[in-house]
Amino acid sequence: MISDSIAKISREAAADGAVLLKNENNTLPIINERVAVFGRYQIDYLKSGSGSGGSVNTENCMTPLEAFEAEPGIEVDREIAAMYRELIKKRPIRIHNAFLSDFKDLELEIENAAVKAAAARTDKAIVIIGRRLGEGFDNVPKPGGYYLSKNELRLIRQVSRYYKKFAVLLNCGNILDMSWVNKYKVPAVMYIWHGGGEGGKASADLISGKVAPSGRLSDTIAVSLKDYPSTDGFFKKKSVVYKEGIYTGYRHFETNASDKVLYPFGYGLSYTSFDISCTGYNINKNIISLYFNVRNTGNCSGKEVVELYINKPDTALDHPLRELAAFRKTRLINPGESESIDISFNIKDTASYDEERSAWIIESGKYIVYAGKNVRDAKEVLSFEVQKEKQLSKKLPPAALQSFTNKHYNEDFPTAVKNDHIKEFIAELTDNELCALVHGEGMNSRRVTSGTAAAFGGITRRLSKKGIPAACASDGPSGIRMDSGEKASLIPCGVCLACTWDIPLIEQLYAEEGKEVALNKIDMLLGPGMNLHRSPLCGRNFEYFSEDPYLTGTMAAAAVRGLMEHGIVGVIKHFAANNREKNRFDADSVIPERALHEIYLKSFEIAVKSSPVKAIMTSYNLVNGLHAASNPKLTTDILRAEWGFSGMVMTDWWAKCNSRGARSSRMKLAEMINAQNDIYMVVPNGMAGVWQDNLKKSLKNGKLTRAALERSAYNILSTIAQLRCMDK
Ligand code: BGC
Repeated sequence: MISDSIAKISREAAADGAVLLKNENNTLPIINERVAVFGRYQIDYLKSGSGSGGSVNTENCMTPLEAFEAEPGIEVDREIAAMYRELIKKRPIRIHNAFLSDFKDLELEIENAAVKAAAARTDKAIVIIGRRLGEGFDNVPKPGGYYLSKNELRLIRQVSRYYKKFAVLLNCGNILDMSWVNKYKVPAVMYIWHGGGEGGKASADLISGKVAPSGRLSDTIAVSLKDYPSTDGFFKKKSVVYKEGIYTGYRHFETNASDKVLYPFGYGLSYTSFDISCTGYNINKNIISLYFNVRNTGNCSGKEVVELYINKPDTALDHPLRELAAFRKTRLINPGESESIDISFNIKDTASYDEERSAWIIESGKYIVYAGKNVRDAKEVLSFEVQKEKQLSKKLPPAALQSFTNKHYNEDFPTAVKNDHIKEFIAELTDNELCALVHGEGMNSRRVTSGTAAAFGGITRRLSKKGIPAACASDGPSGIRMDSGEKASLIPCGVCLACTWDIPLIEQLYAEEGKEVALNKIDMLLGPGMNLHRSPLCGRNFEYFSEDPYLTGTMAAAAVRGLMEHGIVGVIKHFAANNREKNRFDADSVIPERALHEIYLKSFEIAVKSSPVKAIMTSYNLVNGLHAASNPKLTTDILRAEWGFSGMVMTDWWAKCNSRGARSSRMKLAEMINAQNDIYMVVPNGMAGVWQDNLKKSLKNGKLTRAALERSAYNILSTIAQLRCMDK
């Protein structure tokens, strides 16, 4: 079921996330001109990446070609459009399975003569290049993968031969090789990403100039794939070693390899221009505030982003030259007008993780704050001294953690929910009922909305009789996946949303999404996905936001807040360090402690601490030797003890668990419960009460206690108590 009110904001987000990288000779926008549109994706538009993050059954959506044709100021060349319609009929893309990607050369070959003739009839050309990656499919360093294919390059060459003014639009979810931009002197280039169901219309809004682009890159675009430190070893089967440590993305490039950047982090152009001036600052204890005046100095309305970066003193630890500390997007500013904005951050949030002390510290010394339009452009606006080092956290000795773990259930309940009631209720459940409760069932459980990913809670006769409702969880970050065929809205993919750099917009968009989720009687949406773009090759980058933890964390927090406006719980995922799809059930992410805390967990920490996160999905991979689904350090020590999270943790679907040194298995659920990963997703429908995993055996042999099971039952039930299904 579709909520009508979501389309408008979805279209706005799709347009505002597009990143204009180059625009020479006023190639864009196209106003009262004739244009020929090339490339199959003008018709075969890719609304999303593949897999669970994009498998939404949408209504018929306008393609870019149809949307351009509907624009009064754009005269689309009919012959080229008809030629592509015909060619596509003859050579359709055959992969209609939403879970597949294809690295074959799918672009169509066209004759030189056709381009030449079109150039004689039209003023400008547009070429749309498409690439679909996704769950289970990393990009490959080959033509048709990370590199443009033979036919794609041929098409760009043909168009560049006959047109002075043409724009290439990239309809994809990952950064691709961009060396062809300079090689073929392409005058205009824009990433339009996977814009969801409204993406075709949004691309017409941008091309026609109705909307000036205001997206900014959420990743660095390097000169070459080998320049990303993550490339070396990316495809190693068993383990991925994060040897670059904290120097991921722009942290690496700005510090160590500034000449290897084609387009810096935070970069993006508009059709207008802005002047940003810093008008003052204020330091109040730990809060640093800066004031700016942003003036539109160009000829059309637009939005600007002001980005703040800091450089920390290398007193105890080494640091990247720039780290994103805060940002703000303006509203729409008319030509000649300006907007005053203030941007603040807490110095505590910029603390560094000292591995030796296992503690967060604020180092003494000089801090420099830079402000600007992107990481390269940012200029110094403020510096201040921290006189004395501050240690923000103490290392928690294993004994303290142990007692916390026990306390968490037996003595010291979180107070938010009717805890005594739930506690008494749990005490009455039998061991078998407790064991059943820590499983979800699916996919396509008949107890909840048809075609969704899981039902959990009251999914056996006994649990249901006791009054526990069956709660419904559904994919995913870009809209509701209902394999029943039921229609829903597909919103722009995560990377497109991150590139808006517009927190209020994302919150509003997910509030609309939440309305639709509620309409479909679903309690939890399995998103946002918030792993970092460690490499441009990761297949799920389209679902995730950025290479930067602060941008990622604030985006995810906005999504969770938005969903909660309609009582929908956003399940942030995949906790943690799922930065590659190859061998995703079994690969070990080997990450130095500092990088784990400062980079890969930081985004989750921001979301947990700044939004009402009530549920988290762990990832398939191992983190330093233990599967994320059975990793007490992640889901007890850090998530609950350090960050204070009191909701429920679920595994990813059919995840494996292990204990140190032991084999991984889908049956080791005692290890899962002991780590305080509360619920296994998923067992086949109807099997939660009889599933033959190691829970009952472990209760008998003492490897699992009833108290640990009760603790997870509490986490699950206290979360269910806050869901819409309680109304049943
Ligand atoms: C994906 C999750 C998804 C789940 C349910 C898994 O394969 O990794 O992101 O939410 O399936 O569809």
